[in-house]
Amino acid sequence: MKLLIKNGVLVTKKGERKADLLIDGGKIIKIADKITEKCEVINAEGKHVFPGIIDMHVHLREPGFEGKEDIESGSKAAVKGGVTQVCCMPNTNPVCDNAVVVSYIKNRAAQVNLCKVNPIGSITRGQQGESLSEIGKMKAAGIVAISDDGKSVENSLIMRLAMEYANDFNLKCLCHCEDSALVDGGVVNEGYNSTLCGLKGSPRAAEDIMIARDIALSESLNIPVHICHVSTYSGVEIIKSAKARGVKVTAETCPHYFALTDDIITGYDTSTKVNPPVREERDKNAIIAGLKDGTIDCIVTDHAPHSVKDKQVEYNLAAFGISGIETSFSLSYTYLVKAGHMSLAELAEKTSAAPARILNLDGGAIEEGAVADIFIADLNEKYVIDKTKFLSKGKNTPFDGFEVYGLVECTIVDGEVKYKA
Ligand code: DOR
Ligand code: ZN
Repeated sequence: MKLLIKNGVLVTKKGERKADLLIDGGKIIKIADKITEKCEVINAEGKHVFPGIIDMHVHLREPGFEGKEDIESGSKAAVKGGVTQVCCMPNTNPVCDNAVVVSYIKNRAAQVNLCKVNPIGSITRGQQGESLSEIGKMKAAGIVAISDDGKSVENSLIMRLAMEYANDFNLKCLCHCEDSALVDGGVVNEGYNSTLCGLKGSPRAAEDIMIARDIALSESLNIPVHICHVSTYSGVEIIKSAKARGVKVTAETCPHYFALTDDIITGYDTSTKVNPPVREERDKNAIIAGLKDGTIDCIVTDHAPHSVKDKQVEYNLAAFGISGIETSFSLSYTYLVKAGHMSLAELAEKTSAAPARILNLDGGAIEEGAVADIFIADLNEKYVIDKTKFLSKGKNTPFDGFEVYGLVECTIVDGEVKYKA
């Protein structure tokens, strides 16, 4: 089935270009100033056409926590957010530490048939940090990386073994960096606001120590490593100096770390509770600078949907996590592009091309011959984020009521329209 997208501004690696785009057999087969073709036509006049977002850090919660999210609701939320491909974290129940769970997730995703879903296997069995999961069998079943996200692998010897094994299977470790002894039950960033609020703080050092450890392992083994959800200015510095000496480290951050500071915790709204915590102005600015200078390679959401009962409790007892997949594009566009920090092409690099490269996934470019995973957005459309309209089961967002720009109007996966506003 052919599909013609007319009159849109294409966001390509070389910059923006107003052109028509023809899709056939799930691929972009032609880009030209004017294409005429007898087929289904989408008029994108006044709109922008982006490579589909590849969100390499999401929690879909299935199997086991379907009260928070499931593969169907998460996929619906994804395509509404312009996301054509996700990688889902293994902290499900049972944990995704074996090939059976990997196959289950892939089968459910195929039935749902909205965005592409790539399972991530756990590093350790049951995410217990003690023995390695069935990495080879999971790779054969289709995982794209391994991670114990939600916690760190505390034992450095096990982490080193994991990196070596993963590398043998051409997989990367995605490192959730947190020294849990140092976090010591902290629920927000340790600083002025934690003191003001009487909430226990978690210091930057708890994150930085593990970033430094995982980089030290990567450097000593000469094996690539990826650092999850960087939130500290000091973590950015550690990664920057590692990159400067040639360490094969890549890193991601999330919209809440470049759009917010911990001033938002002062209302005790539990939707602001996330791990690692939202930090201070200095951190926010360093994250933005790190995105600009290439220290931070990509933007992910860490989409962490939770049910009302997990969040409607006192701050100390609430679950960590932000439901972010439906707001990622608008927040990134508003706080990075509209704020003057980067171009549209640079944004597409961070949200699509870089994740594709880091995990060896298909996608990330608008060009002839590329897979037709794209979305169309109206960048002039200003709207107010309304969590009650989320398709995700998780309404836990600190951005409810925020005015943002950039509305996703249509999402296309493998040449098929999967979402229309
Ligand atoms: O805030 C978070 N929520 N951080 C994580 O690392 C895990 C996630 C979750 O699974 O809810
Ligand atoms: Zn994490």
